[in-house]
Parts: sequence; structure tokens; C-alpha cells
Amino acid sequence: MANIGIVIPAAGQGKRMRAGCNKQFLVLMGQPILAHTIRVFEESNFVSEIVIVGAEGDISVIKELVYHQGFQKVAAVCKGGVLRQDSVRAGVRALSPAIQRIVVHDGARPLLTLQAFNQFLEETQEYPAAIMGVSIKDTVKRVNLAGNVLETLPREDLRSVQTPQVFDRGILEVAHYQAVSAGYYGTDDASLLEWMGYPVQMVEGMQENIKVTTPEDLWLAERILAMRES
Ligand code: CTP
Ligand code: MG
Repeated sequence: MANIGIVIPAAGQGKRMRAGCNKQFLVLMGQPILAHTIRVFEESNFVSEIVIVGAEGDISVIKELVYHQGFQKVAAVCKGGVLRQDSVRAGVRALSPAIQRIVVHDGARPLLTLQAFNQFLEETQEYPAAIMGVSIKDTVKRVNLAGNVLETLPREDLRSVQTPQVFDRGILEVAHYQAVSAGYYGTDDASLLEWMGYPVQMVEGMQENIKVTTPEDLWLAERILAMRES
């Protein structure tokens, strides 16, 4: 299970955070969010190579961060695209040919732990494609544009999907290629495989592994990290 390659899409604009900069440079417990995110993979014995995908204007700052933190496994910092999907595609391309198993993990998810990541790899090693998800706490309803409630969805059937997501390289590359050719867009990588009719395995994620998306997530993420350090 060694020789895993990591792609970290970090090329978004963080619009919902409204921070005026890429949210992944915001600081939690004295370290940029992106540094927390990278560290887990740097420390995992299963990982041999990491590629970070950044917006064009952020590439030199990301390279500096990697140098400053002393991360040894970062093989490339490459330029992202307009959509997350474009950024992941660019990251996959930058991984060396020796990498045949790829994990995609959002730069904005700094709370994944080394233990949860290694456990995820062990649990999913038999599957060509597998993802982490957690059960939904709230009741979920479908509505129309006017806000009329259309239906209540059966919560037991639903999962809130996270990263990491792991794939055999061949199937991930085919899915990205087919999707971009057809103009199909998905908010995660697994959705491209689903669109092709390819099976994806869901395993239990961790509730703490939030994506830092809106301002209150910063507060929550900082509290969780502080608790871990105390
Ligand atoms: N991402 C990316 N390239 C894009 C869009 C998103 O690499 N073109 C990355 C983000 O940097 C983030 C991850 O994908 O690490 C998940 O995306 P999201 O949380 O939506 O981040 P943003 O797109 O930056 O935020 P927003 O949607 O609020 O603008
Ligand atoms: Mg986004």
C-alpha cells in the first residue's frame, strides 16, 4: 500500500469565506491552513509524493510555505484551473508515472488526522475508488426556487461527503478525461466516476474533518486543533 500520490487542490478563491485572500493562507494555531493539510501526508509512511495545485498568483507563496515548513515530499506546485475539477486534473498530470494510486484531498480540510488517513487507506485498499462520508445530523428537505418544500429525504440513505478520496490512477484519469470532453462537471472526483457508471465505495469519515468554507468554520477548526494540542 506504499507509493501513494497526493493531489491537494488549493486553487480556489474562497469566496464564501469573504477573507479577501485565498482562505488556505489563513492561520489556525499559528500555522496556515494549507500547512496543517499537507503535514498529515508528509507524515504518512504510505505517501511518497505530494502535488499542490494553486492559483497562478499563489504559486510562489505556496512554494515558500513548503520550503519554510521543510516538507520533503512535495514534488510539484502546479497551476490550477477555473473549476476544482480542472485543478485536480492538472495535479494528477504532475504526479510521476510511478504513482498508480492517488488520493485527492481538499487544501481546505486541515483537520484530517494521520490516524484517520492511514485507517482510510487500509479500509479502502481493495477498492479501485473509495471516499469518506459522514451521516447527516439534520433533517434534509428538497425545495424549489420559491422555497416551497417538495419532499423530506430519507436521512439514513444520505452521507455528507468529504475528502480524502482514493482512486486507481487509470480510472481517475479516464473519468477526468471523459468528463472534460463531455462538459460534465462534478463538485468532487467520485461524482465523475459515478457519472460514468463506475462503482465507488463509501467508508465512514470523521465529523471533525470539516472543510473550512465560511467564517464560523475558522472558529470551529481552531477550537478542534486547540483541543487536540491540550
Ligand atoms: N479548488 C481548486 N480549484 C478551483 C476551485 C476550488 O483547487 N478552481 C479547491 C479549493 O482551493 C479547496 C477545494 O478545492 O481547497 C474545495 O473547494 P471550496 O471549499 O469550494 O473552496 P473555494 O472554491 O476556494 O471556495 P468558494 O467555493 O467559497 O469560492
Ligand atoms: Mg468552490
